[in-house]
Amino acid sequence: MRKPIIAGNWKLHKTVDESVDLANQLKAALADVKNVEIIVAPVFTALTAVAQAVNGSSIEVAAQNCYPAVSGAFTGEVSPSLLKNAGCNSIIVGHSERRQLFNESNAFINAKIKAIHAAGARAIFCIGETLTERESGRMFDVLKRQINEGLVGLDAEAMGGVVVAYEPVWAIGTGKVASNEQAQEAHAFVRGVLSELFATEVAAATRILYGGSVKPDNVDGLMAMPDVDGALVGGASLKAEDFARIVRFQQG
Ligand code: PGA
Repeated sequence: MRKPIIAGNWKLHKTVDESVDLANQLKAALADVKNVEIIVAPVFTALTAVAQAVNGSSIEVAAQNCYPAVSGAFTGEVSPSLLKNAGCNSIIVGHSERRQLFNESNAFINAKIKAIHAAGARAIFCIGETLTERESGRMFDVLKRQINEGLVGLDAEAMGGVVVAYEPVWAIGTGKVASNEQAQEAHAFVRGVLSELFATEVAAATRILYGGSVKPDNVDGLMAMPDVDGALVGGASLKAEDFARIVRFQQG
């Protein structure tokens, strides 16, 4: 059984006080939730304060990025071990905004995943095709390449610390959610690639989250798909009420 994960990616939003306020609201609203792993990813400056706020609850804190080194002359960067030290158990890597706006390559993302594993943290590894790639029939090739190059050199044990997030770029922040069938098709494909790369058991145990315009009114259908194991939520994670409803998706 794969325990569902609902993760909120707060992107570049909220001050420290606003972040703590949202974390406290979620802590109160979701105190009784046991069957879902809940993660929030605030901006770097709010990480420690949010980690303190959710301490004692089941809400975990993730970082939105990291640099693949332990320490050194890398002005402006933060390492996975320092993020762990600040209270993060998970780190998002490969988000399409970083691939597109900051030119992050599959190789760089792979180095980050290895550094995250070495630090004993969990990677939330994002992949996804653009609309052009989908419409020109290259979607499966793109996904396969992102997975193969992003996970090269990792073994089955390391995969225990990797969560995959399928986020079609055309659905991120656009309000255009993938249909339940489109999500299922992509997730089943991703799981197939993982079983070729590792083993069927590894693929069967890996959580694959869907991301891209997940909202309270579409989460139930997405979560009903057999290979959708959770959601990575952007816009709707900024409001406690919406995110709490997404965490409390209705099964079946
Ligand atoms: P969205 O963002 O929910 O606002 O589409 C998802 C994401 O970027 O992870």
